[in-house]
Amino acid sequence: MKRVAILISGGGSNMVALCRDMVGDHPCRPVLVASNDPAAGGLARAEAMGIATAAVDHRKFSGDRAAFEAALLEPILAAAPDILCLAGFMRVLTPAFVARFEGRMLNIHPSLLPKYPGLHTHARAIAAGDTEAGCSVHEVTAVLDDGPVLGRAVVPVDADETPETLTAKVLVQEHKLYPAVLRRFAMGERGLLTL
Ligand code: GAR
Repeated sequence: MKRVAILISGGGSNMVALCRDMVGDHPCRPVLVASNDPAAGGLARAEAMGIATAAVDHRKFSGDRAAFEAALLEPILAAAPDILCLAGFMRVLTPAFVARFEGRMLNIHPSLLPKYPGLHTHARAIAAGDTEAGCSVHEVTAVLDDGPVLGRAVVPVDADETPETLTAKVLVQEHKLYPAVLRRFAMGERGLLTL
């Protein structure tokens, strides 16, 4: 059984989708949900599912990313995860942190990578006149939103699309894609899954 720790910053809907899937014959179990924001709504949702949580407020480290990550590492190392999933975790991790979990850290990003790394992905897709948008699950490397893509889900961009409607539409797909990719990843599959 593989141990999975999940990092979040907000509501944690992807974290919930992952944890709901990790039951029965699933090769993984969630062992920790950690956040850089003690007010993140996902922490209460994880607790309600009986999952251990930790909060390390990045604002207390005055921009010292190494010190923040050292504090964040404490509960993570104590949970001894085999796989680390970033699920709406909105802090950029240093290469040193990423190196510790090389080959066993996943992220979900709300664009069809390599398009639109970073923020405001849906607004950028609409502004560019894209007819398709979506989300990607990728392995995390030291370069932001850049590691090998393991899964992607595509949705059409409608004529009257707004960033809000696209966010909602893509999120539905995120909740299907991330659990599907995690299952495959845990079983050693590295091929591209397309939804
Ligand atoms: C999701 O749409 C996720 O793809 C995005 O944040 C949202 C988190 O929602 N992640 C990023 O933008 C990472 N750069 P959630 O907290 O409900 O899972």
